[in-house]
Amino acid sequence: MSEKKLQVAIDGPASAGKSTVAKLIAKQFGYIYCDTGAMYRSITLKVIQAGIALDDEPKIVALLNDTAIDFKPGQPHQLVFLDHQDVTNEIRSERVTNSVSTVAALPGVRKNLVDQQRAIAKNGGVVMDGRDIGTTVLVDADVKIFLVASVSERAQRRFKDNAEKGIHTPLKELEAEIETRDYKDSHRKVSPLVKAADAIEINTTKMSIQDVVDEISKLMKNKLNNN
Ligand code: DC
Repeated sequence: MSEKKLQVAIDGPASAGKSTVAKLIAKQFGYIYCDTGAMYRSITLKVIQAGIALDDEPKIVALLNDTAIDFKPGQPHQLVFLDHQDVTNEIRSERVTNSVSTVAALPGVRKNLVDQQRAIAKNGGVVMDGRDIGTTVLVDADVKIFLVASVSERAQRRFKDNAEKGIHTPLKELEAEIETRDYKDSHRKVSPLVKAADAIEINTTKMSIQDVVDEISKLMKNKLNNN
C-alpha cells in the first residue's frame, strides 16, 4: 500500500453533484473534504449582514482579512463556521445563493480564499471541490475531475433538495437561476469556470451517485498504484 496521499480536484457548474460525490470519496479514502463554495458563500453572508454592496471590493477584502472560516466534522455533514458561529444552513439560503457569484468574481476575494485553500491542501489527502481547483488552486493535483450535467437535470436535483427543506421554488425559476449562475461563473475575468486541459470530464446526467464515486475512486487507485 502506498503512503502517498493524493490531492483530488473536483470542478464543475452549480448542482452537478460535486459536493455529494466529493464527500463520499473523502470518506472512503479518509481524506479531508474542502468545500470551497462554502468559503465564498460564508464571506457573501457576512457581506450581506454588514450591508455592504456585493461589488465593493475594497470593503469586502478588508472584511475578509478580519474573518475566520473553518470546517469542523459533524453528523451527517461537515459543519461550516463563520467567525466561530455555525452557518452551515444559513449559507445555503436563496439570498446567499443568488448573491455569491458577484462576490466570488472579485479578484481580491479570490486571492485571499485561494491562499487559504492551498494551505488546507498542502499535505495532500484532500478532496477539494469548486470551479477553479484544477485550473488555479491546485494546478498540480494528482486527479482532476470535471463534473457536468444538463441544466434540467441540475434544476430537478435542486428542486428535490429544496423540497426536503420545505422550499418550493418552481422548476423553471431554478433552471433560470442555474443558467444565470453558470453564465456569471464562466464569464468572470479571474479564474472563470473552465475545464482544465488535464481534467477528466464525467457527465453525471444519467449516472447514479455511486457510479460517479466508483469511477473517481478507480482513477485514484490507479494513481496510487502507479506511484
Ligand atoms: O459550489 P457552490 O454552489 O456552493 O458555490 C457557490 C458559488 O461560489 C458559485 O456560484 C461560484 C463560487 N465559487 C467559485 O467562484 N470558486 C470556487 N472554487 C467555488 C465556488
